[in-house]
Amino acid sequence: MRKQNSLALAREHGTPLFILDHEIIRENYRIFKRLLPRVQCYYAVKANSIQEIIETLFNEGSSFDVASYSEFMQVYRYISHFDTPRQEHFVWDNIIFSNTIKDAATLERIKQYKPLITYDNEDEIKKIKRACDTAGLVLRLKVPDIGSQVEMSSKFGAEPADAARLIRDAFDQGLTVEGLSFHVGSQCGNLDNYTKALAVTAAVFRDARQKGFPLKLVDMGGGFPVPYDAQTVPFERLAETLNTEIERLFPEDVELLAEPGRFIVATAACLVSEIIGKARRNGKIFYHINDGVYHTFSGVVFDHWIPNFSAYREGPREICAVVGPTCDSFDKITLAADLPADLEIGDFLFTDNIGAYSTASSTTFNGFPGAKIHHKNLKPGAGPA
Ligand SMILES: Cc1ncc(COP(=O)(O)O)c(C=O)c1O
Repeated sequence: MRKQNSLALAREHGTPLFILDHEIIRENYRIFKRLLPRVQCYYAVKANSIQEIIETLFNEGSSFDVASYSEFMQVYRYISHFDTPRQEHFVWDNIIFSNTIKDAATLERIKQYKPLITYDNEDEIKKIKRACDTAGLVLRLKVPDIGSQVEMSSKFGAEPADAARLIRDAFDQGLTVEGLSFHVGSQCGNLDNYTKALAVTAAVFRDARQKGFPLKLVDMGGGFPVPYDAQTVPFERLAETLNTEIERLFPEDVELLAEPGRFIVATAACLVSEIIGKARRNGKIFYHINDGVYHTFSGVVFDHWIPNFSAYREGPREICAVVGPTCDSFDKITLAADLPADLEIGDFLFTDNIGAYSTASSTTFNGFPGAKIHHKNLKPGAGPA
């Protein structure tokens, strides 16, 4: 159904066409909330920062995980008309800066908003003290990310053994540590990553409280997997495990947060691209299409994503290459798409579940502007009262 509808839209609006369904964004958000009732949902803007997505989620009552001043302002515009106490409450309660390293200029700019920010080392504590001492701090821990599509722990997170020192350091400098966070790696199909991360975090949390540091929250980060293929762990199963572990490990007064990105937006978008050239190279058919790895398929490079392609008509199938429009030989989306071998220039290709880490990292390399965005079921609104 979705594929058939996309064909009509592509004919009407042209290609490449990125079709974003806001009703699916709402549904994904509601599923997340329903299946993890104790967890406050902070949408990770990084996954797709299209303004209308933020608006849809703001209107649903979502909180937000931002990594830069610019992402912060993309959310802030919806609360700029609030009076100061309400604004401050929203920033404190509904936005987290999850980037553990922030440049001093960014810290100085966000100081006035009294933000919640993460850190994972002592130099960052000193920088925060100098540039943004109004902030509440969240210590990010290094946790296992084995088997996740995108690993995180090689770049971020303090060793659990250093946590007590980093918490004490922050308090010694007059700052307040509000809690702990982790990220098990994006598209995490390995349930053990979550259970181990929760166990490590609970141990550090308990120890900090016993030492008299009044930690309040635990942020489980992102990583929640999307059904790109039949092997993906169903979210229902993951949620059941998480709920059991949360209840077992954290007393009721501990606030639980999560920062899903991919889970909220990946399944909300599909892409229609168009074959603009065709050649047989070393025996293999190469379909040259009008979108590529510098554009909507950037996730192939940055997100280790394996794209899916299907055609709108049947034909004798072969393993084909699908490559992008730029003049760069790196711009190969896949060398192994199972597609009809008799597609022609002007035929369309369909790619599903392309909402996350796609347009977000698309460039205009080589003068190609990237896909047009088509919004479905968008309901512009003023946000919650
Ligand atoms: C700090 C942080 N939080 C949340 C996310 C969102 O992760 P995901 O899209 O896997 O849910 C990311 C992205 O990798 C991240 O870096």
